[in-house]
Amino acid sequence: MKNLPIMIANWKMHKTAPEARHFIGELIKLMPKVQGEVWIAPPFTAVAECAKACQETQIAVGAQNLSEWVQGAYTGEVSGQMLKDSGAEFVLIGHSERRKIFRETEATVKEKIHRALENQLTPVLCVGETHSQRESGQTQAVLEAQIRGALTGFEASALKSLIIAYEPVWAIGTGVTASPQMAQETHNSARLIVSSMFGAGFAQDLPFLYGGSVKPDNVAELMAQGDINGALIGGASLEASSFAEIIKQGSQS
Ligand code: PGA
Repeated sequence: MKNLPIMIANWKMHKTAPEARHFIGELIKLMPKVQGEVWIAPPFTAVAECAKACQETQIAVGAQNLSEWVQGAYTGEVSGQMLKDSGAEFVLIGHSERRKIFRETEATVKEKIHRALENQLTPVLCVGETHSQRESGQTQAVLEAQIRGALTGFEASALKSLIIAYEPVWAIGTGVTASPQMAQETHNSARLIVSSMFGAGFAQDLPFLYGGSVKPDNVAELMAQGDINGALIGGASLEASSFAEIIKQGSQS
């Protein structure tokens, strides 16, 4: 696990399909041969285009969200089946922007994990505390509520593909990164929550990614921590040169 960092680009609401195709062309030219995994989460409208452009490459394509429903009269929603059909292999679930701006609850997050698994999409569950929650000593309680809220009721055997991304909200898009020590400590305690739910072996094998202002010059130190198995990268993944550099630096640890 430690030798296989997973680097996920979260483009958020950036890039049209032609821009995404151009990025992938650039990335393939720049990308070092890495041991780890390189994944891209474009907006819905570029998923199919990206999946096509990434065929025969080591890059996997996914989505940033999916509907909590299977199908029906849900105007504006995109289902897991639709994403799978578009070539997506994974999906981010419960990103803090979804929780905050779109008011996603633990119940919604859990439904989305069900929809992802039903469609053989790898769920990347995002968790993390706000600045005031950290300041008031609530980090562990918040992570506990988010992880238990999302995963209670699942059998460990159903969650074999699960990935968790720890993203302190105060570090997202702010330029402030958690120190490698703080990130390691929090990853470790979050892994213990998973261990208490599904057993130590399951928790040990679970890929735990860090997200929040990851950049070429801080990724190596973060990836060198024992409990950090990859990164979820927003702003610094929008330029192919910067994402390629993150992949390079992050895969050396
Ligand atoms: P950032 O975003 O790298 O721009 O901080 C990370 C994320 O929101 O996944």
